[in-house]
Amino acid sequence: MKIGIFDSGLGGLVITKAVINRLPQYDYVYLGDTKRVPYGNRSPETVYEFAKAAVNFLFQQDCLLVILACNTASALALRKIQQEFMPKNYPGRRILGVIIPTVEALGEQSRKVGILGTAGTVKAKIYNSEINKIYPNTKVISQAAPLLVPLIENNGLKWAGGILESYLEPLKKAGVDNIILGCTHYPILKTKIKKLAGKKIKINSQDEIVPEKLADYLRRHAEIAEKLSRRKRRLFLVTDKNTNFNEVAGQLFGKKIKFKLVNYKV
Ligand code: DGL
Repeated sequence: MKIGIFDSGLGGLVITKAVINRLPQYDYVYLGDTKRVPYGNRSPETVYEFAKAAVNFLFQQDCLLVILACNTASALALRKIQQEFMPKNYPGRRILGVIIPTVEALGEQSRKVGILGTAGTVKAKIYNSEINKIYPNTKVISQAAPLLVPLIENNGLKWAGGILESYLEPLKKAGVDNIILGCTHYPILKTKIKKLAGKKIKINSQDEIVPEKLADYLRRHAEIAEKLSRRKRRLFLVTDKNTNFNEVAGQLFGKKIKFKLVNYKV
């Protein structure tokens, strides 16, 4: 059986590339819901419907384990999928989000952490609650960055500078010592963000966190790891072949990818 990786669009490809580099032996299926991206400004009910349908589709493709490589879906849909959808439909299969691993990786040295995320992720305040569960003394300051995902999905990286500057400004002013890139699209902007944030602020990027956390999960769950096939197969699926999508995907993944167009009921 395979490992499925899901994102609302193409941003999750950065995470997928890092996961494949770390654990190349397994078979992977990537699904980007390019027909419905962005999720970041949608209601929790809609994000749940979209994410549930996508996850269902991945399980039908023989995935044993699915990573929701989307903070918005991890914030707004993961718990309900785990508690209501999985036991009824796919007992024995697993679904993992990206928020708790990111919070665990933050460490307790941070006094004041800034979260950059989609409007949905920020509004859900899930980073606040998860961080304060583990590190009660860490202050959390969030900044929604709704324009970044559309920019990235539309090949508009060259315009990101000024927008990023204004999103980072309140976090810098508040004196954060760490910033979590709380959206899987943002690691592609990591170098720009590091430059704008300055040397004193540590940037926590999920492409550096998720692969190690998955490796650790598979080490601790031999019963899952042993059921995963190891033929190094990679399948890339999208729900729409948007304008520029090939170019954008190439930028995010670091090389050209062949995609298959898929359709499923939402
Ligand atoms: N990569 C998704 C996330 O992590 C993007 C959300 C969106 O589609 O707006 O939140």
